[in-house]
Amino acid sequence: MTEKDLHYYEPASGHGLKHDPFNAIIAPRPIGWISSRDAKGNLNLAPYSFFNGFNYHPPIIGFSSTSWKDSVANIHETGEFVWNLATMDLAQQMNATAAHVAHDVNEFKISGLTAAPSRRVNVPRVAESPVSFECKVSQIIQLQGADGQKVQAWLTLGEVVAVHIDKAMIKDGVYQTALGRARSSAPAAGATILKSGLRPCSR
Ligand SMILES: Cc1cc2nc3c(=O)[nH]c(=O)nc-3n(C[C@H](O)[C@H](O)[C@H](O)COP(=O)(O)O)c2cc1C
Repeated sequence: MTEKDLHYYEPASGHGLKHDPFNAIIAPRPIGWISSRDAKGNLNLAPYSFFNGFNYHPPIIGFSSTSWKDSVANIHETGEFVWNLATMDLAQQMNATAAHVAHDVNEFKISGLTAAPSRRVNVPRVAESPVSFECKVSQIIQLQGADGQKVQAWLTLGEVVAVHIDKAMIKDGVYQTALGRARSSAPAAGATILKSGLRPCSR
């Protein structure tokens, strides 16, 4: 590849394409489907694709909120959250939980999902999801640019203190990653893996 084969841009000056390729390049991404509860007890559930795992021992996961949204506000108040695995058969409900609704609207209810009690945190998990991590917050970091200027984005990191896995996802003692991604009523597992990972998101 030579220079003339490359589309080069500096993000601060724009990407020069029809759509910003940033999200599409960092793909597929798992979804951080985050349940939380505010100090008054209002439940919340929302998807975050700026999500990943960052450490083994203790296990630490995190997601980034591109403004001070309800999930990060709740977690800041109570110090707890739950991550739920979003599988293809839950995609419609997962999208419904991204709705911009008033703070006290419970997304479990509007998406028709069941809030199942957790064991170590006072935040429910999604009963329909085959895997959930109960988490206690370890850090909430406001992001900043290379120039040190704060940006309106917060990375919430939490230690996984309890794990729930549907036993159907474990074969001979080994967790089946592909099964989790592909779990779907759709016939083509390969396509569903792509769809679940590459799903473009608008925020
Ligand atoms: C698939 C998907 C991925 C998303 N990823 C993010 C993300 O990484 N960060 C973010 O701030 N919002 C993201 N959003 C938008 C939030 O889900 C949306 O703003 C939601 O209303 C936030 O809910 P909350 O205020 O209850 O936390 C995503 C939406 C969808 C559908």
